[in-house]
Amino acid sequence: MLAMRGQVIKLSHILRGPARGTPVLNEATRTCPLQQSNFRNMSSGSKPKVFVTNYNIPKKGLDLLKSCEVVQWQSEETIQREDLIKNVKGIDALFCILTDKIDGTLLDACGPQLKAVGTMSVGYDHIDMKACKERGIPVGFTPDVLTDATAELTVALLLATSRRLMEGAGAVRSGEWGMWNPQWMCGQGLHHSTVGIFGLGRIGLAVAKRLRPFGISQLLYSGRKENPAAKEVDAEFVSFDTLLSESDFVIAGCALNSETKEIFNEDTFKKMKPTAIFVNSSRGGVVDQKALYEALKSGQIKAAGLDVTTPEPLPTDSPLLDLKNCVVLPHIGSATVEARNAMAELTARNIMAALNGEQMPCQIE
Ligand code: DGY
Repeated sequence: MLAMRGQVIKLSHILRGPARGTPVLNEATRTCPLQQSNFRNMSSGSKPKVFVTNYNIPKKGLDLLKSCEVVQWQSEETIQREDLIKNVKGIDALFCILTDKIDGTLLDACGPQLKAVGTMSVGYDHIDMKACKERGIPVGFTPDVLTDATAELTVALLLATSRRLMEGAGAVRSGEWGMWNPQWMCGQGLHHSTVGIFGLGRIGLAVAKRLRPFGISQLLYSGRKENPAAKEVDAEFVSFDTLLSESDFVIAGCALNSETKEIFNEDTFKKMKPTAIFVNSSRGGVVDQKALYEALKSGQIKAAGLDVTTPEPLPTDSPLLDLKNCVVLPHIGSATVEARNAMAELTARNIMAALNGEQMPCQIE
């Protein structure tokens, strides 16, 4: 118990249990200073209940929820759908991540008192937005705060793929590295190349800005509509087919939705140059992975760098992992400490705003 401003306040928060490995829900009470929130729209005078679906949410985000009763999933293992459904009844807000499927069934399991969903991600293909809208539930996401980190990783992945960094490092370890050889481990340079970005949104634009100083000769982009910010990077809006046929590097920067699902498929890989390098740091679902494997194996395209796959994690027996011309990373685009802290904080701020009856700082329209 803690005295504040003449009041005695007891604040429910979370307990992060030491025991891991077994999915257990833990709820505890500890004392903290009261935050400035007033919970308008709350059905009772009690603290709003927030369910956090993941064990590893950065503390900076959780701290912003300390005026709430927070119940957090207590296992390193991803929460299973049935556990999620079982445990959300009666919550006021849901703090989720991109592996949680949020649909009508889940929202109904939460109950009509649910006031907010906040996902700690910029992508929201795991959320049925129609179901949320029908129930009047605002959904928050985390744009901008991860843009730099994700763009940086995309460029790193592109270079790792085009300059064969994994293969080279592997050759050093295996003893395959012989005397200097003018023809060995040659890749494709960015200088004088044409780069095509499919989906010039926040991250696509940030990638373009980072690639310009490499001396690329042309920057193309395509997508649903032109982006006025394209002039900042002197990018030309072209049809998807033109982007595919003219680019030396094809970068998927689009969101996953019904229009972009498996948009990179047998047909589209066929339209690319045989020297083309394909990079994807958006969502695995935009690629027909079987078709990508065939395109890489047959030499239809030169190489691919993937930070996202279907499924995730990619099984270790995936044929893609047998290919030297395919670099696969474990969905680490936004994985900097700074970005992940900021994502957790923004998710919490989104939730707190909705619980206070205010507009979320970043709400999905
Ligand atoms: C997102 O936020 O959608 C990324 O895929 C993970 O950072």
